[in-house]
Amino acid sequence: MNTPPDRYGVVGHPVAHSFSPFIHGMFARQTGQNLVYRLHDVAPAQFRGHVLEFFARGGRGLNVTVPHKLAAAELANELTPRAERAGAVNTLALHGENQILGDNTDGAGLVHDLQINLGVAVNKRRVLIIGAGGATRGVLAPLLMLGPAELVIANRTAERAVALAQDFVDLGALQCCDLNTVPSGAFDLIINATSASLSGDVPAVSAATIGAGTVCYDMAYGKEDTAFVRWAREHGCSRALQGWGMLVEQAAESFELWRGVRPDTGPVLAALERQTRLS
Ligand code: ATR
Repeated sequence: MNTPPDRYGVVGHPVAHSFSPFIHGMFARQTGQNLVYRLHDVAPAQFRGHVLEFFARGGRGLNVTVPHKLAAAELANELTPRAERAGAVNTLALHGENQILGDNTDGAGLVHDLQINLGVAVNKRRVLIIGAGGATRGVLAPLLMLGPAELVIANRTAERAVALAQDFVDLGALQCCDLNTVPSGAFDLIINATSASLSGDVPAVSAATIGAGTVCYDMAYGKEDTAFVRWAREHGCSRALQGWGMLVEQAAESFELWRGVRPDTGPVLAALERQTRLS
């Protein structure tokens, strides 16, 4: 008799357009893992009950996306140190008989994409991160640990950047400002961690932050170039990239936590490239 597949999924609201079932389906085929991965569109009021029932009925793991990442951190019985630091969870895993472990693989996914896939250095470089919401919180610690020469957080609401930075002061020097007062001179790396791309907007940062050697990275991604990627190209950056690699690498980290094997992300990125159009 065949063993039934282990059950995984992604919970979000909305979640219909998530690429995660495609990505994890490819990982599972590639590594010969017997699992299914489904979409769970769950409103905030139902999140806790839905997730507890999923695990109580034998589910093995869930990815968690907008708007549930903070609720997932509250629900988990135990957090990994990086999830604790991020204050948000994007991966839940059954731990032991009935414990739920919360992890955050977003920062590791970004750093892996930058360093390994794209060959973008952070150590001793000038780095600007735009935005001070959950997306920034998830990646600050791994970025600081790479030892940038400067890490500036610029946010439309400067006070939010200052409040966020306070939780990371022990890891390295951070500067905070609003979008109009970004320190002068070109940066080596500019990361857009705002949600502006979702509405087709570009954060109102001076184009003087971009020089001929600047790499611009949007954590957002889409079938067309995001507005930030177009803006960065128009101002002569060296490379403008969408967050497809971060998406696939954070998924690979989750998969490894769940199954104990590291999938090869290259073929999955290539398949996404065929389906969409990578920048
Ligand atoms: P997420 O979890 O995706 O980070 P969030 O916590 O709501 O979402 O944070 C959204 C971030 O995008 C914030 O930094 C927000 O700036 P404010 O703190 O000033 O609200 C930023 N943001 C959203 N739309 C923006 C826009 N059009 N221009 C600049 N920043 C924007």
